[in-house]
Amino acid sequence: MLPRGFNILILLMSTASLCPAQPMVGINTSEKNERIPILPGEVWLDDRDSVINAHGGGVIFRNGRYYWYGEKRGRSASMGVTAYSSADLLTWTYEGMALEHDGIDTLSDIRTGCLMERPKVIHNDRTGKYVMWFHLELKGKGYKAARVGVAVSDSPTGPFRYLGSMRPNGNMSRDMTLFKDDNGDAYLIYSSRENYDLRIARLTEDYLNVTTADSMIFSNHREAPAVMKHKGHYFMVTSGCTGWKPNEAWLHRSDDIMGPWRRVPGNPMRGPMAELTFDAQSTHILPVDGVKGGYVFMADRWKPGDLKDSRYIWLPVGFEDGIPFMEWTSSWLPVK
Ligand code: DGJ
Repeated sequence: MLPRGFNILILLMSTASLCPAQPMVGINTSEKNERIPILPGEVWLDDRDSVINAHGGGVIFRNGRYYWYGEKRGRSASMGVTAYSSADLLTWTYEGMALEHDGIDTLSDIRTGCLMERPKVIHNDRTGKYVMWFHLELKGKGYKAARVGVAVSDSPTGPFRYLGSMRPNGNMSRDMTLFKDDNGDAYLIYSSRENYDLRIARLTEDYLNVTTADSMIFSNHREAPAVMKHKGHYFMVTSGCTGWKPNEAWLHRSDDIMGPWRRVPGNPMRGPMAELTFDAQSTHILPVDGVKGGYVFMADRWKPGDLKDSRYIWLPVGFEDGIPFMEWTSSWLPVK
């Protein structure tokens, strides 16, 4: 690990060389509180100067802080779910393991060797609990189990208590996300039937189970769903199914979360490598006050040979005629 100052210097130099014409936004060393911009694709460090290990993740905002949950990865191993927190989306404090594997000597679904992917957390305002759902694959079964796991905590930083896993309404479930609507209703959006179908199921009031309100969104072989709501319209970014390799993102739109959903023609990504989602895959869209456009698009630039070194591609969401788009920028700051 390089000393922190050195790392930051490298980040700034590499940003400058990628975009020689672009001014160095946000770096004002005359300010006491120097703000390091968001640098998509670079190495991001936490408060311990350790590389942030939170892939396929999501972020929530609670009581003035952002909480980021993601997959802890080794070179290929899945090692549970980490939590980080931040006041400004720029500096992140490591909060420890939100959900750990249960160890080796157990028959638990989440014993060491299982896969925990794409964890998402939402807060239940009725029960006061933080509820985590994640894609679960059982030890030694590759991606065949196709289940979703549920865990719960009284605190945003956990530790979360594992409750169990399921195939929602009997359906296979791989890539997934959660979406909590303005009225408190929450939904699981999940890739099903060997990823050919994308489905949506409304959660029970406590968010700990699915209801039978479960419908197919479309059957286009899509995964990596990330959902946002803007001015009453729902938008979703998905990827194609090419393993860890990047492909073109699609944007979908609906006026009813349960559907029908329609693809918005064209590519919602703009800039170099837009046709490959900037060499990344969607994971979450975070509503943020103070960011132009009001949302941050989050994606993973996977490194299949060393998953823990996969990088984070976070971009502000722009709008044209009410339709969201994500434009590449190598360095940006949320407005304070
Ligand atoms: C693509 C998925 O989006 C990832 O979460 C992961 O499951 C990989 N496939 C595994 O190949």
